Amino acid sequence: MELMTRTTLHLFCSAAPPVFDVAQVIEQAQAGGWDVCLGLTPDAARWLEPSLDGLAVLTGHPVRFAYDRPGEPEIWPPADAVLFAPVTFNSLNAWALGLTSSFVVGAAAEAIGRGVPTVAVPCVNAAFARHPQFERSVEALRSAGVSVLYGYGENGLAPHESVQGQGRGGQGQEQAGAYPWGAALDVVGAQVAAGRS
Ligand SMILES: Cc1cc2nc3c(=O)[nH]c(=O)nc-3n(C[C@H](O)[C@H](O)[C@H](O)COP(=O)(O)O)c2cc1C
Repeated sequence: MELMTRTTLHLFCSAAPPVFDVAQVIEQAQAGGWDVCLGLTPDAARWLEPSLDGLAVLTGHPVRFAYDRPGEPEIWPPADAVLFAPVTFNSLNAWALGLTSSFVVGAAAEAIGRGVPTVAVPCVNAAFARHPQFERSVEALRSAGVSVLYGYGENGLAPHESVQGQGRGGQGQEQAGAYPWGAALDVVGAQVAAGRS
């Protein structure tokens, strides 16, 4: 979906393998008219450490992965929309429960309170998806107005089968290929367009 006017997307990523696609996704979003600001969990920032300077140049904004110190000015333009993708089991549950120790989870929690259109794409393995808190978190976020792209029959993902500690890197590459970045950008664009019509 192409946006008519330049619109700011706060793209938040946590530490799951699709995060390695983020430069390509930013370019795709920019081509569709988004001004992208990139926020990362501390673990995702550690994974992308060699690319952080390049990602700041690509977006034209500082990449953020920590809260500002008191008194520091706001460095990003306000969000017209938030896309939290990939969102890990950890970050999804923290967000649903309002546990905002990471900057991006705090910003995503505030986005709900501010009524900013927000889309989330969980990336979890089957074992995490069977944990009772997972469905509760998805439902809590959906009932708060977040579009959670997850589950069969939607534009979202099914859980993947990787096992903690066994070949996660390799499975992650496969998972990254299947991750519905295009659908996520389409949905967030459609939400902003609907809000303007
Ligand atoms: C190679 C690798 C792949 C991982 N893949 C996932 C994943 O797909 N989903 C998930 O919820 N956690 C995954 N994890 C675990 C998270 O990185 C871990 O829970 C981390 O603490 C999440 O922190 P964050 O939510 O603050 O980014 C993976 C870890 C590693 C090392």
